[in-house]
Amino acid sequence: MPSPLSDPVKLPCGLVLPNRLSKAAMAEMMAKSHHPDPLCEAYEKWSTGGWGSILTGNVQVDINHLGSPFDPALNGEYTGPDDENKALVARWTKYATACQQHGTPALAQICHPGRQSFRVAGKRGIFANTIAPSAVPISVGDSWLECFIGAVAWTKPRAMSTAEVQGVISQFVDTARLMADAGFSGIELHGAHGYLIDQFLSSKTNLRTDEFGGTPEKRARFVLEIIKQTRAIVPQTFAIGIKLNSADHSSATFEETMTQIALLVEAGIDFMEISGGTYEDPQMMGYPKAEIPVKSERTAAREAFFLEFAKTVRGRHPDLILMLTGGFRTRAGCVAAIEDGACDLVGIGRPAAIEPAFPLLLLDESVKDEKAGLPLIKVPPPWYAKFLPRNLIGAGAETTYYAAQIQRFARGLATYAPAL
Ligand SMILES: Cc1cc2nc3c(=O)[nH]c(=O)nc-3n(C[C@H](O)[C@H](O)[C@H](O)COP(=O)(O)O)c2cc1C
Repeated sequence: MPSPLSDPVKLPCGLVLPNRLSKAAMAEMMAKSHHPDPLCEAYEKWSTGGWGSILTGNVQVDINHLGSPFDPALNGEYTGPDDENKALVARWTKYATACQQHGTPALAQICHPGRQSFRVAGKRGIFANTIAPSAVPISVGDSWLECFIGAVAWTKPRAMSTAEVQGVISQFVDTARLMADAGFSGIELHGAHGYLIDQFLSSKTNLRTDEFGGTPEKRARFVLEIIKQTRAIVPQTFAIGIKLNSADHSSATFEETMTQIALLVEAGIDFMEISGGTYEDPQMMGYPKAEIPVKSERTAAREAFFLEFAKTVRGRHPDLILMLTGGFRTRAGCVAAIEDGACDLVGIGRPAAIEPAFPLLLLDESVKDEKAGLPLIKVPPPWYAKFLPRNLIGAGAETTYYAAQIQRFARGLATYAPAL
């Protein structure tokens, strides 16, 4: 019997994703000059991999504030595909074409890291403050070593003025417009993992009392404005999705997150990807700060990290197209999540860095379930890790290792799953 993974999914904007397997966003760490050109070879490989959709690694909306020193980014305003911007549009068109040349729709993930921009990432200078909704510094722990690491990695954030907030909204809208003009099928706003949109949504990092803070609704205003202004400028058929962090059911912020999700649905998003974690608590990489209690035996048998939360969102918004990312390694795990009604789309990160054509294996009916998967162990931490915060170093080791594998297959070299 054909698996539900090969069913197409139609987004509200009309975009059809030919199957349910989505290559999750992974920063490739290859764009030294912040142009997308060096990324094309990796995406040419993914474009033949049988994916239903391809999410690019994060594209930063402001070259002064990057997630890593090698992120692709916009440098200044984008005013449309006029003569002045011809070369810029051509560059991004080459990238969109590399992703979509075999018919797989690609969506560019757009992002601003806010307070999570590393000291060395971005043209603002290594002593300049990061920007954030409020001046709440990152804390990776309370020991002197953790405080020292935090101070070396990040400068203190500065609270954005209202005019600056409006300016960053415009940067998101400009970036979305450029992605549409370049031929991408849509964008995904990075509203997860503790980046700027997430910082606005969260009451821990947004202490504002103006129109962008104070209540869950006002904290959502930043992202809702981005969506509204983007919708007004891109074609109707252009998809706008968002990656969002799950909230713990027992946490005080659970209902607040639900309120914000309802507002995003009302704003007309095409899909929502569920993930979780921040740099302070890297759950998305399987390195939570504190062990997460397993909710039930059935959940323990599943692969996905945020399955229970996705099911709650599904219960409240049955028509919202949901993608769930984090932990999927086998066909059986992906099928179980879909058949259980937790999601419509399965986002796959690390396996896609080892095997760019992973869907061809999962969708091949002649391959038995036991063989249709790519189990991955944790990347062995470097020798000095025992002196450093375990979860931060663990998550960093995962990201660095898998980015290196992406760079390898882009150059036509073999990739290697982590081994002891
Ligand atoms: C090398 C690497 C880079 C990543 N970069 C991004 C990114 O740019 N944007 C994002 O939303 N998530 C990023 N992630 C997180 C993945 O999208 C995904 O949420 C996470 O890896 C969990 O999925 P997995 O267990 O299938 O790997 C990255 C992960 C890795 C391994």
